[in-house]
Amino acid sequence: MNIQNVSVIGAGSMGHQIAMLSALAGFDTNIQDVNEEALKQARLKLNKIMDKWVAKDKISIEERDLAFKRLYFTTNLNEAVRHADIVIEAVIEKLDIKREVFQKLDKAAPAHAVLATNSSTIVSSLIADATERPDKVCNMHFFFPPLVMDCVEVVKGEHTSEETAGIAMEVCEKMNRTAVLLQKEISGFIANRILFAIQNEAMALYEGGYADYKDIDKITRKALSHPIGPFELMDLSGIDVGYYVMMQQYAETGDPKDKPSKTMTDKVEAGELGRKTGKGFYEYHSKV
Ligand SMILES: NC(=O)c1ccc[n+]([C@@H]2O[C@H](COP(=O)([O-])OP(=O)(O)OC[C@H]3O[C@@H](n4cnc5c(N)ncnc54)[C@H](O)[C@@H]3O)[C@@H](O)[C@H]2O)c1
Repeated sequence: MNIQNVSVIGAGSMGHQIAMLSALAGFDTNIQDVNEEALKQARLKLNKIMDKWVAKDKISIEERDLAFKRLYFTTNLNEAVRHADIVIEAVIEKLDIKREVFQKLDKAAPAHAVLATNSSTIVSSLIADATERPDKVCNMHFFFPPLVMDCVEVVKGEHTSEETAGIAMEVCEKMNRTAVLLQKEISGFIANRILFAIQNEAMALYEGGYADYKDIDKITRKALSHPIGPFELMDLSGIDVGYYVMMQQYAETGDPKDKPSKTMTDKVEAGELGRKTGKGFYEYHSKV
C-alpha cells in the first residue's frame, strides 16, 4: 500500500509529537483532539521544538515550513480520518475510551486504513473487536518523547494480518524511527514491563522509608548509569499516565501488586502530575 495520509487521534504528550514525526516524514497528517485547547498547546509546543531544531541545524527552515504545511489540526474526527491510510490513536489510557474511539474510527476511516493504538500497555486484541476490521488493528508503541526516542514496538496480535504489521513497520521507518516487531501480544510489551519492574521497586523502597525519592534517583543514576532516575522519569512522562496504565493492568489481572501505590494515587488526586503541571515529585518552573 502506498501510504500518504496519516491521522493521529489525541494531541497530548504523545500525539502531537507523533504527528510531527509523520509530517516531517512527508505524510499528509491530520491531528485530532476533542479538546481545542490541547490542539492549541500542541501547535505552540511544536513551533517551539521545530524552531530549536532549525537553530541546531537538525532541519532547514524549508523542511520545517513544509512539515507544518502538511500538518492539519482539527477537533472533527470524521474530517481527520476521512482520507487516512493509517490512524494512530494516542488518547488517554482507558480501555473503554479507546474502544469507543476505535468504533468511531472504523466507521469514519476508509476501509483499507490500518488502525493502530499507541497504548503503553493495552494489547490491540482488547480493542480490535470494537471494529469490523480486526486484521487491520495493531499496536504501534512510541516512546516519550517521540521526537527524541528512537524506538517503536509494533505488536502483532493473533487478529493482525502480516500486511498490517508490515505497513506499521514501514510507516515507523519512514518516520525515521527504529521499529521492532513483537510477534505475540503481552500487556505492557517489552520496554515498559522492564521499566515498571524498576519503578514499582523504587516506589516500594520509598514508601518503605528506606531512602528518599531523590536519593533513589541518585543511586539509580550513579550506580546503574541510568540517564534519569525512576521518580524523575515518572515526572517526565506524567504520573497520571503511569497511574492509568497500572489501573488498566489491575483491571486486567486483579493482582494487588498491579494497583497504583498510595503515593502515586495521592499525587494524581492532588493534580501533581509531573513536569506538565509544574509539580510532581519535583518542582518545575517552566511547564514544558
Ligand atoms: N506519556 C507517555 O510517556 C506515553 C508513552 C507511550 C505511550 N503512551 C500512551 O499514549 C497515549 C496517550 O498518552 P499521553 O501521555 O499523550 O496522554 P495525554 O493525557 O497527554 O493526552 C491525551 C489526549 O487525548 C485527548 N483525548 C481524550 N479523549 C479523546 C477522544 N475521545 N478523542 C480524541 N482525543 C481525546 C485528550 O484531550 C488529551 O489531549 C496513552 O495510551 C498512553 O498510554 C504514553
